[in-house]
Amino acid sequence: MNSFGIDLGTSNIKIYDGNDGHTLIEKNIIAVNDKGDLFAYGDSAYEMYEKAPANIHISYPLCNGVIAELKYEQTLVRNFLTDLMKGNVHPADYYVTIPWDVTEVEKRAFYDLVKEANVKAKKIMIVEKAVADGIGMGIDVLNAQGVLVVNVGFDTTEISILSLGGIVLSKLIKVGGLKFDESIRNAIRTEYSLIIGGKTASFVKNNLLELEESGEPAVVYGRDIVTGLPVERSIPTDLVDSCLKENFTTIIDNIRVILERTPPELAADIYKHGIYLTGGASQTAKLVQQISAGTGLKVNISDSPITSVVDGLAKIIEDEHYRTVAYAPR
Ligand SMILES: Nc1ncnc2c1ncn2[C@@H]1O[C@H](COP(=O)(O)OP(=O)(O)OP(=O)(O)O)[C@@H](O)[C@H]1O
Ligand SMILES: [Mg+2]
Repeated sequence: MNSFGIDLGTSNIKIYDGNDGHTLIEKNIIAVNDKGDLFAYGDSAYEMYEKAPANIHISYPLCNGVIAELKYEQTLVRNFLTDLMKGNVHPADYYVTIPWDVTEVEKRAFYDLVKEANVKAKKIMIVEKAVADGIGMGIDVLNAQGVLVVNVGFDTTEISILSLGGIVLSKLIKVGGLKFDESIRNAIRTEYSLIIGGKTASFVKNNLLELEESGEPAVVYGRDIVTGLPVERSIPTDLVDSCLKENFTTIIDNIRVILERTPPELAADIYKHGIYLTGGASQTAKLVQQISAGTGLKVNISDSPITSVVDGLAKIIEDEHYRTVAYAPR
């Protein structure tokens, strides 16, 4: 099928290629030089992040789940698609996901982005992220009533109630893996007078479960605030746990707000089936247990948290049964 499914995440761009059934996952990051020329994109731009000289500017064109720098994002999308099509961009259909709880202008921007990216779009269809997520996690969203999907990404967490293939309620909050990393950095700075980079914080967060299981502290490298010198420090995992907790509480409070607004018949279904939890940062140690304790609900975890949305797009592209959830904007 000559169709592509695109999930633009703040941290990772995921593109399903219907020609060969593969999914590309790359960092949604661009590096440009002083003149504004493209220097690097995707994972190779991420390699330079926090390390680049002053004349190279590195940015995430998406911010809080919406497009902040349209031209840069267009450049990224065009380059990734050109790579996938081996330099020869041919006419194709596109399925693009959008968050629900953003303005109409912000939603429209996802459509316009692909339309104007010079990628020979024949047809551009829109799919709500949470709906694709549900399909990607193997839920029969077209028939199911009262499905609660929580996607904990990089900049955002999207909490949505689905019923019969559509969204009943959805809330996008500005908490995700990035906030988790920032909390870790702040705690280490306060407790150890040590400044660490974002990648180091992310590494600690992503490996927290294994560290806890092994009983080892997290060994980090950074700059001592007092001496200004580079140092190595061992950070107890308890400290990391406690600073993550406040972010978890924000997520749980927002799930509770959504549940309070959910019509009772749907709430009954959610009670029976539990929460469907996905998104890259949903893998953070103890988040599942805390959501379960904080809501009293069972939590179903995704098999592929980073790709569940694009996996849903793949099913929509490959299986006509699901095609009805995609629509062309008015
Ligand atoms: N093993 C792991 N444990 C905890 N967090 C992880 C793990 N692996 C990846 N992450 C985090 O997942 C996040 C990226 O997830 P994802 O790709 O779902 O986000 P995104 O779709 O780009 O962002 P958003 O949905 O907010 O726009 C990053 O913050 C990353 O650090
Ligand atoms: Mg995402």
